[in-house]
Amino acid sequence: MTKEQANIRLGLIGTGNIGRTHLTAFLALREAGLLDLDITGICDIDEDSLQSAAELFDVDNVFTDYGELIAHEETDLVYICTPTNRHSDMVKAAARARKPLFCEKPLAHSAPQAGELLAVTNDAKVPAAVGLVLRYDQFFVYAKHLLENHDFGAPMMAHIRDDQRFPVDYIYYSKWRGNRSIAGGGTLIEHSIHDIDILRWFFGEVESLTATIGFYSGREVEDHASIIMKHTDGAVTTLDSVWHWVERPNERSVEFFFEKGYIGIRLESAKRYLDYHLQGRGPVRVWPETANNVLLKSLGFEENGLSPEASETLTSVGTERYAALDYAFLKSVQEKTAFSPDFRDAFAAHRIVDAAYNAADSKKWIDLT
Ligand SMILES: NC(=O)c1ccc[n+]([C@@H]2O[C@H](COP(=O)([O-])OP(=O)(O)OC[C@H]3O[C@@H](n4cnc5c(N)ncnc54)[C@H](O)[C@@H]3O)[C@@H](O)[C@H]2O)c1
Repeated sequence: MTKEQANIRLGLIGTGNIGRTHLTAFLALREAGLLDLDITGICDIDEDSLQSAAELFDVDNVFTDYGELIAHEETDLVYICTPTNRHSDMVKAAARARKPLFCEKPLAHSAPQAGELLAVTNDAKVPAAVGLVLRYDQFFVYAKHLLENHDFGAPMMAHIRDDQRFPVDYIYYSKWRGNRSIAGGGTLIEHSIHDIDILRWFFGEVESLTATIGFYSGREVEDHASIIMKHTDGAVTTLDSVWHWVERPNERSVEFFFEKGYIGIRLESAKRYLDYHLQGRGPVRVWPETANNVLLKSLGFEENGLSPEASETLTSVGTERYAALDYAFLKSVQEKTAFSPDFRDAFAAHRIVDAAYNAADSKKWIDLT
C-alpha cells in the first residue's frame, strides 16, 4: 500500500454486535494491506462496551456523545451501528457535518422516515451506504455472475425462506429486538429486509404485493411474515420469514426459477452452497471456494492477484460479507465512485416492507407503482 493513498479516518457509533463485526473487518482489511485506514474514534452510551471495544480494537478516542465523535476533526467518515430507532438523528448529524456515512439496516422504522434520510444525504451530497450485506454474499454474487454469463431465459418465480431463532436471546441476545418502539417491527423489517433487497436486486421493482403476518410469541413484533410480490417485469416472488424458538442454525433457503434455468442457494452457518441447472445441462453444485473467486473478481481482484491473507479477509467466515462490503464502500469513497446498496436501495426496500405491513392489516393487494 503506497503512502500517497488517502488515509481513511473513520469513527464508529455503537460497539455492540454488528459494530464489533465492522471493527474486526476494518482491522483485518488494514492488516491485510487492503486499505490504509485508521479507526480514529468509537462511541457508545454503554461505557463498559465502549472501554472493552477501545482495548480490543486499540482505539484512543472514545465518546459517549455521538455528536462529539461526528464533529471530531479526525473523523472523516461515520459508521452508525446502533439500534434502529437511533439511526435517524445520527444520519442527519453526519450529513449536516458533510461526512460520508454508512448506516446499518433497517435504516428507519418506515419508508417515509427512510425517504427523509435519503433526501437529507442527497441534499448534503454525502455518500450514504446501508448494511444490506447479502449483496456481498459470495453466492448471490455468483448467481449474478451466472445470470450475466448464461441464458437462463425469462425470470418466472423465486422463493426465499428466512428463519432465525427469535433474536432476543441466542446469538444476538438483544432485548431491544422484541421492542417495537426500538426495532420498528419483527422478522420482516429487522431481518428479512435483506431478503426483500435481494429479491428486488434480482427481479426488479415490485408492482404489487399481498402479505400476512403473525404474532405467535405474543410480543409487540411479528415473528412470522409471508409475502407474495409481483414484479414489473412479470416475475412473482414469495418470501416466508420466521423467528422461532428452535435451537437450529439461522438458515436461508433460496430458489430462483427462470424459463431455462434454476438457481438454488442454501445459506446456513454449517453448510453453504449454490446449485444451478441450465436447460440441456446437468445440475452443478458450487461450494464457497469457487464462489469466492467470483466475489473477489467483483471487488476488482484477478484470480491469484491477492495474498492468501487478503483473500481470507474478504471471504472468510466471521467477517465475511461485512469485510467485502466495507472494503467496497470505503474504496468507493476514496475513489469517489458509486456504491450500492445505498440509501436509494434502502428506501426502495422500506417501501416494500411498509406495503407488506399495510397488506397484512388490510388483507388486500397493495399497488406500489
Ligand atoms: N447488516 C446486518 O446483517 C446486521 C446484523 C446485525 C445487526 N444489524 C443492525 O445493526 C444495528 C445494531 O444491532 P446490534 O445487533 O449490533 O445491536 P446491539 O444491541 O448489539 O448494539 C448496539 C449498540 O449501540 C449502543 N447504543 C445505543 N444507543 C446509543 C447511542 N445513543 N449512542 C451510542 N451508542 C448507542 C448500545 O449501547 C449497543 O452497544 C441494528 O439496526 C440492527 O438491525 C445489522
